[in-house]
Amino acid sequence: MNKMRGWTAGIFSIAVGFLLATFVASANYLQTTTSFTQQSVHQGDTLVVLVPEGTDSVSLSGWGDATTAHIQRAMRAADFEGKARQQIEVLAPTDLEFSRLILLGVGNPSELPRHTAEEMGAALAAHIQGSKASNIVLDSRLLTNPGVTADVVSAIAHGVDLRSYRFDRYKSEPAERPAQRYQWVVGNAPAVERAYSQLHALAQGVFVARELTNLPGSDGYPAAFAEYARQQLEPLGVVVTILDREQIKELGMGSLLSVSEGSKHKSHLLIAHYKNNDDEQPIALVGKGNTFDTGGYNLKTASASILRMQTDKAGGAAVVGAVKALAGQQASVNVVGVVPLSRNMISEQATLPGDVVVAGDGTTIEVANTDAEGRLILADGIWYAREHWNPRVIADIATLTGAKVGALGTEYSAIFSDHENILSTLREAGDLTRERVWQLPLDGYENVVRSRIADMKNTGAPGAQAGAIFLRHFAGDTPWVHIDMAGNALIDSASGINPEGGTGYGVRMLTEWVKIYSRQQ
Ligand code: BES
Ligand code: MN
Ligand code: ZN
Repeated sequence: MNKMRGWTAGIFSIAVGFLLATFVASANYLQTTTSFTQQSVHQGDTLVVLVPEGTDSVSLSGWGDATTAHIQRAMRAADFEGKARQQIEVLAPTDLEFSRLILLGVGNPSELPRHTAEEMGAALAAHIQGSKASNIVLDSRLLTNPGVTADVVSAIAHGVDLRSYRFDRYKSEPAERPAQRYQWVVGNAPAVERAYSQLHALAQGVFVARELTNLPGSDGYPAAFAEYARQQLEPLGVVVTILDREQIKELGMGSLLSVSEGSKHKSHLLIAHYKNNDDEQPIALVGKGNTFDTGGYNLKTASASILRMQTDKAGGAAVVGAVKALAGQQASVNVVGVVPLSRNMISEQATLPGDVVVAGDGTTIEVANTDAEGRLILADGIWYAREHWNPRVIADIATLTGAKVGALGTEYSAIFSDHENILSTLREAGDLTRERVWQLPLDGYENVVRSRIADMKNTGAPGAQAGAIFLRHFAGDTPWVHIDMAGNALIDSASGINPEGGTGYGVRMLTEWVKIYSRQQ
């Protein structure tokens, strides 16, 4: 009997494996390795020493007087004082079996912000990627407080990881990937390893979000996005449910349904639940997963406006990434990610401007502009989260409006909420991770989405507020915040912790926010 079951299960998984193989496969994101040891390492290509401010002479165990004197002269010549981000490089350091020595200032380590440490790691990675060094030894033993050292070292190592990701699955001859070995010499290896493993899990979430964001429309359609997320999340104990077009229709979510009717790839709804505490009510994250935005019949006619619209799924990608990070960290949270997935295309079956669709909660919506599709899919995503999960709070995140880019550019995302504790905890998470947020008002814009013929229309002015006011309706009485991350999803050239391409914006902020908000009350 048992044998039978095993055999049938085997056939079943072969069949499932075959089906999955038709979707885009998971990538191996990094070729760099990171390890921690308490033993001195005397050999390598590059030695990096972390130097606190006020250190006037550097000497590590095994260094002779000649080495110490050489480094001290170099420090003086460069006015190196160990200030945070300050860096000097000494070639062929006397009597050391390293071709280069880098002194990296960390200022006062207990006051070094996490994001500064991450940016220092990213800058170091970029610098080293430009050299031939493959064996990097990093010594942190001039930092004496073990707890502080674990935070500083793990954040620098995290910055190295974030910058080392590459999206090269479409290159027939990929450029060589960053493949350095980063070996950290630390005073207390278990403490650093514990801190780093949390940030390593976070980085895995960021990478999934970047990958999903980067996938072109041809491969990143709704069902493929959902399956990719399933592959990434289920092994971590996340319960994944994927609703297809018929199920969406059955549940009455006509607004989500309407956005993909012009495409052969129909709307889907991804639900990912991770529960690791006793909270009955989950925190709900709802992300816009519009896998491509042509605008629909309100076509994006400027080539610059339609290009890169595969990144219109970045909000959904951020939600998948945050759930992946929280599960990977085994965070004690109850979180449900809901990602409405669509593909906004043109055909005989597509929604026409002026059509009226009916959302899951019964609201009738005049589609005044088919290019305002994000709020149409989020309306049902938010309603589904509220109706089926009874969440304590809902945060939606979306590349929603060009108006947001006009108002805030790409350094901040815009946040809208009537709840001060949601806004303040989001600011806290945003400041910690440097995925910063800025509040825009809702008050006074109540009537901007009034429709002549239906309950609401999907456009209004000012643009970013109209999107938010529209979405607020579907959250009902549930505490809610809307995050407009238009413009934050993609960068054209590497900068800070980001390589070129998808940024994974939102993953780190949402992950921290869910943990902060979870601890409240
Ligand atoms: N996905 C776009 C918003 C966007 C624009 C994201 C630029 C990233 C960069 C969204 O679906 C959209 O088209 N919004 C319209 C709404 C308008 C038609 C009411 C916009 O902002 O122009
Ligand atoms: Mn649009
Ligand atoms: Zn869009």
